[in-house]
Amino acid sequence: MTVALVPAAGRGERLGSAGPKAMVSLHGLPLVAHAVRGLLDAGCVRHVVVAAPSDHLAEMTAALSSFEPVTVVPGGADRTASVRLALLAALDHVPDAKIVLVHDAARAFTPPALVRSVTEAVAAGAPAVVPVLPVADTVKRVDADGVVVDTPSRADLRAVQTPQGFAIDVLRRAYEAADVATDDAGLVERIGVPVHTVPGDVAAMKITTPFDLAVAEAVFAR
Ligand code: CTP
Ligand code: MG
Repeated sequence: MTVALVPAAGRGERLGSAGPKAMVSLHGLPLVAHAVRGLLDAGCVRHVVVAAPSDHLAEMTAALSSFEPVTVVPGGADRTASVRLALLAALDHVPDAKIVLVHDAARAFTPPALVRSVTEAVAAGAPAVVPVLPVADTVKRVDADGVVVDTPSRADLRAVQTPQGFAIDVLRRAYEAADVATDDAGLVERIGVPVHTVPGDVAAMKITTPFDLAVAEAVFAR
């Protein structure tokens, strides 16, 4: 059985919206509702736990009331804290879950097929799975003054998306050992568990800036 965690407790500072980014409405639904719908439409997710901004808990619960089974819990000060709180709630609500997906509310238009392919890779035995895309831009490492240190070979680089999928015991151990990371697979890498990749999808783009929101609005018009 698969459970999905949706960190949605961020402020959206780079987007600059009045309220939380996950509550920004696109085509009549808040981003978090699009994200939850995509997970449930995949057909393989039994329960979704959403981490909401603690001062917008009731509002987000109401926005998700037509989806089920969904549990909304208060998130934390950073993404890692929000995922940790959602994971604890998931272990509580769905004690027999074997697979856990972690999926950013900000990747609101992730195709259900990508949710399935990550879940299937974990079900087939990979302890951790991330969807990845080739990197289009050349990426450089710089020092504190912005001077280039080196240029990693682009062929070895991948941009990482969500949902990220894990055997639930692996994610639980990673979070027990964890401090802070920008992605969950990063915590799993630190406990020495191999992280596998599956092909990502451009539609799983993260909505970070007003430009991204405009792109999403144009591309995902219904
Ligand atoms: N997130 C969260 N709890 C936090 C911070 C972030 O659950 N304390 C979530 C966001 O809601 C988002 C995902 O983590 O769905 C990825 O974070 P990001 O895109 O950086 O969103 P924000 O932190 O809201 O945006 P910004 O960094 O621009 O403020
Ligand atoms: Mg952030």
